[in-house]
Amino acid sequence: MKGTVHKCIEKLITEKFGEEKWQECLVAAGFNEDHVFMMNDDVDEATTMKLVTQIIPSACNLTIQQVLDAFGHYWINGWAAKVYAPYFEGCKSTKDLILKLDFIHKTLTENIPNARPPRLHYEWVNTNTLAVTYLSERGLIDLFVSIAKGAGAYYKEELKITKKSDQVLEIDFA
Ligand code: HEM
Repeated sequence: MKGTVHKCIEKLITEKFGEEKWQECLVAAGFNEDHVFMMNDDVDEATTMKLVTQIIPSACNLTIQQVLDAFGHYWINGWAAKVYAPYFEGCKSTKDLILKLDFIHKTLTENIPNARPPRLHYEWVNTNTLAVTYLSERGLIDLFVSIAKGAGAYYKEELKITKKSDQVLEIDFA
C-alpha cells in the first residue's frame, strides 16, 4: 500500500494518541521509532494490514471497526481534503465525490508508480440509491464503507450505506 496511506495513519495516531503511541506502533510493525514514510513509498501489504488490524487496535485500545472508521474519517477530513484538494474541486456533495472516485483513483494510478487503488462500477438502483461495485484484490470493502462514511461527514450529509456483499454496497443519498 502506498506511503500516503501510512502518512495519514501517522498523523491520525499522533494527533489523537500522541507521538509516543505512534512510535510504539512503528516499532511493533518492525520500523525504527523515528521512521518517516514518504508519500510514494511501497509499504508491504502484510505490514499495513498488521498495523491496522492488530497493532493500532491493541496499542490504542480500539476495535478494528473503530480503527477503520477513524481512518476513514481522517483520510477524507484531515488528509485528502488538504493533500489532494484539487480532486475535491467541483464536488459539492458525497454523491459527486463518490461518482468521481473511480476517475480519482484511476488518475492516481497513472501518476503514482505501483499504486493499485480499487476500481469502481456504478449503477443507480433508484433515483436516490447508488450501487457501487468495489473491485480490488485487497478485499477491503469494510474500509471502503468507513471512508464513504468519512466523506459523508465531510459534506455534513446523513448517508445510509448498506453492504450487500464483499464487492457491492448501496449508498442511499436521500
Ligand atoms: C480525493 C479523495 C481520495 C484520494 C486522493 C484517494 C487516494 C487513494 C490512494 C492513493 C490509495 C492507495 C492506493 C494504493 O496503495 O495502491 C487509496 C486506496 C483506497 N481508497 Fe481512496 N482516495 C480518495 C477517496 C476515497 C474514498 C471517498 C473512498 C471510499 C468511499 C476510497 C476508498 C479507498 C479504499 C477502500 C482504498 C484501499 C485500497 C484497496 O481497496 O485496494 N478512497 N485511495
